[in-house]
Amino acid sequence: MLAAPLSGYTDLPYRRSLRRQGCFFAFTEMVDAASIAYSNSNSVELLRRGEDEEFLAVQLVGSDMEHLRMAVDHINQHEFDVFDFNLGCPVPKVAKKHAGAALGKDVENALKCFGLLASRTRFPITAKIRILDETDPAPTLELVQGLAALGARAITIHGRVMAKFYSGKVFTEIISECVKAVPDTQIIANGGIMSGFDAEELKRQSNCNVVMLARGMMGNPWLFKEVQQKENYLPPTVHEWAAEMTRHIEEMAAYYGESRGLTLSRKLVLDYLRGRGFGGESKNRASGLSTLDEFYRFRDWLLERGPAASYFVNPPPCRRLRQCD
Ligand SMILES: Cc1cc2nc3c(=O)[nH]c(=O)nc-3n(C[C@H](O)[C@H](O)[C@H](O)COP(=O)(O)O)c2cc1C
Repeated sequence: MLAAPLSGYTDLPYRRSLRRQGCFFAFTEMVDAASIAYSNSNSVELLRRGEDEEFLAVQLVGSDMEHLRMAVDHINQHEFDVFDFNLGCPVPKVAKKHAGAALGKDVENALKCFGLLASRTRFPITAKIRILDETDPAPTLELVQGLAALGARAITIHGRVMAKFYSGKVFTEIISECVKAVPDTQIIANGGIMSGFDAEELKRQSNCNVVMLARGMMGNPWLFKEVQQKENYLPPTVHEWAAEMTRHIEEMAAYYGESRGLTLSRKLVLDYLRGRGFGGESKNRASGLSTLDEFYRFRDWLLERGPAASYFVNPPPCRRLRQCD
């Protein structure tokens, strides 16, 4: 089980939070080849690895051969366990540069770029793609077989086409066809895992023994334990939930400085709150947090109120909390 790269999220404090709850295989956020090539300081910051991180993959996105060459040479000066190429990002900012999922659809050029990266990186190389068609496996197979032939050690397949972004059914049959087609390359199935049950279903339906968690881990790092421990999993108590959120936000403040850290943390706090029965006022308050002291007061206010009593009767399966003793 892997933690997906999530742009704007999987920085060092985020990965540390995931790792405390059972994650081992994690990625940096996606880094843009042109920005790395020209040493943009914000992008170079994304390459920072914690001394405590035993495994870390870096993910690059881009489509310009010269930028890719410069970026891979720069990344070679750092220390990573895996070098991953993004062929699945659908966001307009990336697609308009013909990178990410747009490049993935252009199989010939995608393989040209991947071949260049494979020949220059000093790390094991992998790719993250989307399926290219919901019913016909042939286009996805062409891409997957081409990547495997160029030396991809693993290929993560998000079972939705680019036009669907992140919504709708995950087409597990296409992933399963890819598993059969490249028996020597590890296929990793991705899409729609919100609970331990979903992870088992995705494995079963796609015939994959490895899956990647993405939106399901946002505000719910305990998803790693849930997937690992299956029916023995006990959700966090409200106090354990608050303690993990607090540690995460404190690390954001330490990493980015209090002001920037707290601004960046607002969306994280909203994720921790989502679906957990704290009510609308908590969201309004979270959106205005700007100092650690404000956060501590907010956290104490949440603990005093607790989730609505009705929440414990029927909590959403993926957002469960145990009542404090
Ligand atoms: C906010 C956000 C940021 C993402 N950033 C990246 C990224 O940097 N690189 C990448 O390959 N995929 C990225 N993705 C896609 C996820 O890794 C994953 O493939 C997708 O969310 C589908 O899995 P899910 O249905 O379990 O969420 C991002 C998704 C979201 C929602």
